[in-house]
Amino acid sequence: MKPMRFGLVGYKFMGKAHANALSRLPMFFETDARVERSVLCGRDARWLEQAAQTLGFGKTETDWRKLVAREDVDAIDITAPSNAHKEIALAAIKEGKHVFCEKPLALTADDAREMREAADKAGVANQVGFNYRFAPAMALAKRIIDEGKIGKVFHFRGSFLQDWIIDPEFPKVWRLDKSVCGSGSLGDLGAHVIDAARYLLGDIAEVVGDQITFVKERPVVERMTGLSGKADANAPRAIVDVDDATSFIARFENGAMGLFEATRFAQGHKNDFRLEINGEKGSLRFEFERMNELWYFNAGDEPGEQGWRMIQVSEGVHPYWDKWWPAGHVIGFPETFVHELYEFAQCAAQGRPCSPSFADGEAVARIMDAVELSSQRRAWVSVGEI
Ligand SMILES: NC(=O)c1ccc[n+]([C@@H]2O[C@H](COP(=O)([O-])OP(=O)(O)OC[C@H]3O[C@@H](n4cnc5c(N)ncnc54)[C@H](O)[C@@H]3O)[C@@H](O)[C@H]2O)c1
Repeated sequence: MKPMRFGLVGYKFMGKAHANALSRLPMFFETDARVERSVLCGRDARWLEQAAQTLGFGKTETDWRKLVAREDVDAIDITAPSNAHKEIALAAIKEGKHVFCEKPLALTADDAREMREAADKAGVANQVGFNYRFAPAMALAKRIIDEGKIGKVFHFRGSFLQDWIIDPEFPKVWRLDKSVCGSGSLGDLGAHVIDAARYLLGDIAEVVGDQITFVKERPVVERMTGLSGKADANAPRAIVDVDDATSFIARFENGAMGLFEATRFAQGHKNDFRLEINGEKGSLRFEFERMNELWYFNAGDEPGEQGWRMIQVSEGVHPYWDKWWPAGHVIGFPETFVHELYEFAQCAAQGRPCSPSFADGEAVARIMDAVELSSQRRAWVSVGEI
């Protein structure tokens, strides 16, 4: 069997999630190429060697330019912060490597387009890290909608709520720096909600949005991850140039109405991603923190027996369920990464398009740019304008 040797860029939050997924993939899934953790890439050799040992990579590289040119690597997996995605992906594509890239695909829709065009032209497998698509209940929701069971859809309601930067003394980590992350709550959290909306209902035609930055200056910090950092009491302050919260209304191309909210200022909510979809014949409801459950209301049930029913999706309806445990033995957040990397490895080995691809990453980026423009103009913006 041919190998699929991965070069992984980054080893913190997402780096660990991907390394964990790559290690478990061959234990549970049969793949057409043998998935291997080959080379780990990070900038600082002092931490890199230790990380490579912990995460099970035999080789290291401190410069991603050298990583993408290596002959012992077939696929590049990018988990560096968002401003690094485009340059690394384009270089990897030029070397003929398959590319998996974390979301948001790029800082702007124009950059995302360039990446999609390059990948398509080179004919390499390309996928973007919308892992929430791979939660069991999302797959069932998609099947129910595609089979017409909830009929014509009227409403999509999606929110992603967190609370980790309410303290004004929380430092300006890279997730609060536009030059690194592109946008704040919109690109970090809203991107997942937009992808879920497109996955389940199709494309969005126009949007009207509102964005706000509640804490306009924060202490500067030097050593950080995207989610944590320490600043001393006398640290200088820097302007926060991204949104702390974004909400927007959308019209889908199929005529449905969408309501979206992404914030890191919702006290008490840690990773609260939830959706509700209302159709002519039924409704669906999903909360990521209970990702094995899908709530379904079927208006076709007998009048005296109608009500919301909770479907335990771990009982055989998820497309990958047979690979895991006996019925009812639920899976969680880390397994979404195993599923998405299985999809990627198989697409690369079989030469078929991946889903979600760079084209999906670009489509989400276009919607996000439209939301930002709309918030600046205080008016509706057609996504086609981006
Ligand atoms: N799919 C998801 O659910 C999800 C969740 C969190 C983050 N993300 C995305 O993943 C990406 C990374 O986020 P994170 O939270 O893991 O960040 P992080 O700060 O925890 O880790 C970033 C890693 O990239 C490395 N890095 C930075 N610049 C580099 C460079 N030039 N060359 C090599 N390595 C470099 C850092 O050393 C670190 O190991 C972001 O694009 C983010 O939006 C996705």
